[in-house]
Amino acid sequence: MYSLRTQLGGAGRQTGERLTLHPPAKVNLTLEILARRPDGFHELETLMLAVSVCDTLICEPTDDSKLHVRCQWAAGLLAQSIEIWQPLPATNDNLVWKALERLRIAAGVTRGVRVDVIKRIPAQAGLGGASADAAAALLAANAVWQLHWPIERLAEVAAQLGSDVPFFLTGGAAVCRGRGEQIEVVRAPRCSLVIVRPPTGLSTPAVFKRCQPSSPRQAASDMLRDFARGDSAAAARALHNGLQQPAEQLSPWISKLRRAFETTGCLGHQMSGSGSSYFGLCWHVGQAKRIARRLRSMNLGAVMVAETVSTTLQAAAKASQQV
Ligand code: C5P
Repeated sequence: MYSLRTQLGGAGRQTGERLTLHPPAKVNLTLEILARRPDGFHELETLMLAVSVCDTLICEPTDDSKLHVRCQWAAGLLAQSIEIWQPLPATNDNLVWKALERLRIAAGVTRGVRVDVIKRIPAQAGLGGASADAAAALLAANAVWQLHWPIERLAEVAAQLGSDVPFFLTGGAAVCRGRGEQIEVVRAPRCSLVIVRPPTGLSTPAVFKRCQPSSPRQAASDMLRDFARGDSAAAARALHNGLQQPAEQLSPWISKLRRAFETTGCLGHQMSGSGSSYFGLCWHVGQAKRIARRLRSMNLGAVMVAETVSTTLQAAAKASQQV
């Protein structure tokens, strides 16, 4: 169990040739499964928000031609809950490593790079941690290798790495379509949230395999209209996740968390992405902290208080290059 306040304020910093970024987690406020595609993916529409739970990625070029990637959990997390803070993937099984390798080949780079990732975003959580790190690696390597690739070109590499990776290049808030890689940036609502990652995670392909496409509900546009009017309660009524039902069939934790959140008085609650994290939207940060305290006493897993963030990784990488 832990509580985390953002270090994302500046979202990035460069010292000499070393660049530090703070890739954020995301939550899905809406997620509609529209159709199954012949390529095995699903056509979807989802409203994603970057939130203040974040990893840290430190990147610097090296004079050899190698990729040095190291990922470790932030100090203190391993001691808290062994089920959640599981061993991290070996180097070349890691999305950061894959991102660097793809970019290096595509750009014909001969220099190497050293990337250290300090992880706080739980894995198999539907919070996009690996995708956020991969997007940050692309932006950071683009900067330290001085490639000056425009974001559209990086987005092509990002889309090959995973459906959620392009979102993190633009960040903030976006309605994502296609398999998730078509990004329409929208104005980010300001929200406070409580996020719980239960002791066991969920596999994204396993959850998608059980989902049923449904006809569009336009939940994203309804919710954005309500947020724009300042009506958070109405926005919370439009929360929707088409992956929650299949996830409930796979993990008893999802319905357990739903029942726990029903007693909290938060604005609304649901699972994020393909799970297994579950979040509640709160009226304000004070309520979020109160609910987090209560949920922590119920031993439901890692409980995090978060806020939406509007600073994007892209802006942070750009700003740090101008220092
Ligand atoms: O794109 P990503 O590698 O994150 O997708 C992981 C898995 O999730 C895919 O192999 C697929 O089974 C499922 N998926 C899907 N439809 C999407 C996104 C992911 O079926 N739009």
